[in-house]
Amino acid sequence: MNVLLVGGGGREHAIAWKLRQSKKMARLYIAPGNPGTAKIGTNVDISDTDLDGIVQFARNQQIDFAVIGPEDPLSAGLVDRLAAAGIRAFGPSKEAAQLEADKSFAKHIMRANSIPTAESRVFSDYEDAKAYIASRDEPVVIKASGLAKGKGVFVCEDPADGILAAEKIMVNRIFGSAGGKIIVEDKLLGQEVSILAFVDGRNIYVMESAQDHKPIGEGDTGPNTGGMGAYSPAPIVTDALMDQIIREILVPTVDGMNRNDTPYKGVLYAGLMITQGGPRVLEYNARFGDPETQPILMRMKGDLLEVMEAVCDGRLSEVEIQWDQRPAVCVVMASGGYPDAYEKGKKISGLDEAARMKDVMVFQAGTAYKDGHLVTAGGRALNVTAIGDTIAQAKARAYEAVDQIHFDGAYYRRDIADKALR
Ligand code: AMP
Ligand code: GLY
Repeated sequence: MNVLLVGGGGREHAIAWKLRQSKKMARLYIAPGNPGTAKIGTNVDISDTDLDGIVQFARNQQIDFAVIGPEDPLSAGLVDRLAAAGIRAFGPSKEAAQLEADKSFAKHIMRANSIPTAESRVFSDYEDAKAYIASRDEPVVIKASGLAKGKGVFVCEDPADGILAAEKIMVNRIFGSAGGKIIVEDKLLGQEVSILAFVDGRNIYVMESAQDHKPIGEGDTGPNTGGMGAYSPAPIVTDALMDQIIREILVPTVDGMNRNDTPYKGVLYAGLMITQGGPRVLEYNARFGDPETQPILMRMKGDLLEVMEAVCDGRLSEVEIQWDQRPAVCVVMASGGYPDAYEKGKKISGLDEAARMKDVMVFQAGTAYKDGHLVTAGGRALNVTAIGDTIAQAKARAYEAVDQIHFDGAYYRRDIADKALR
């Protein structure tokens, strides 16, 4: 099969690596890809949001199957556009992708289906929001309703901070039109986990659990990022808790999407807080998580392409996936300054040495070639991922690999996976 993978981050490098192992794979194209995916398939210089360009390319190159990585093309309707051109594509429709792209829609689905989540209200008027936030005396969480690259959420300890966040989002429009509406919700306490599942419209196949590290600083301090590291599995997710998550969250979500006439196909990612009262949904994503996908796919055995085809064809009940029982840990190496302004174009050395280590994969994200040298080209540059017999060993191996890699201003958290070790 000829496959087109859309996206260009560390997640897509990991997906490309896994897809390449499929016996069914013929040509693999990645649009736009990155220097990591260029070693696995053919990068195509088309932006992941250029829907016309992608559909035209897929037609011209006789693409049999497309896999959409990021949320932007999904919420813009790329899967629908490809389907209209007769090309099977892995991912939710535009309408179903609203589960991620419109948090007020997600809240509506949760409320209508009694799915546990934080109490919340939606506002499209700043003055109304301000008055409501001022009337509260507990911590509040303020969220831009639209897509904001994982940075649209402010956890505020007091109402004054909450009002400031609402002003930034709704008045100053720091996330553009994504801030036309906000969600004001109660702050939940607990550990976060990421549960990713393949969904074929009806059937659900849950992948191994994972945990992300959103804040930039060690000990989960500082502003949120796209994710600074991840590990899989998350020991907090026992079999009993996983059963509860499936029963109380995943099944009602998939059923609710059907009742809403927006059936869901693709990867459903539930970002959960495990509170004293049980699991609560913080958000849904309509795609593989980044960086959770890197450790999850390193543990997945078998043919990812076959699983994705089964999702598209509604045959997920026939699929059986084996998992490497050993844990995996992924450390994100970022450009100094991220998630604020940072410099690009820093020469990267030591990557090949790190990638040669046993049970280590260095997935590339924000990198580029300049004058024949691999350089940084984004905030999150590299995702160094390792498998080990224990979480401690996977962690040690990942950091051993990180220590081989150098670029000016490289920043990474030293405490990835510590929560799992406690
Ligand atoms: P989201 O994009 O909605 O997952 O939010 C990003 C991050 O903000 C989450 O991963 C949590 O760390 C935090 N967060 C979101 N909602 C809440 C909440 N209700 N209570 C506490 N933290 C939250
Ligand atoms: N790791 C969080 C996300 O993919 O949104």
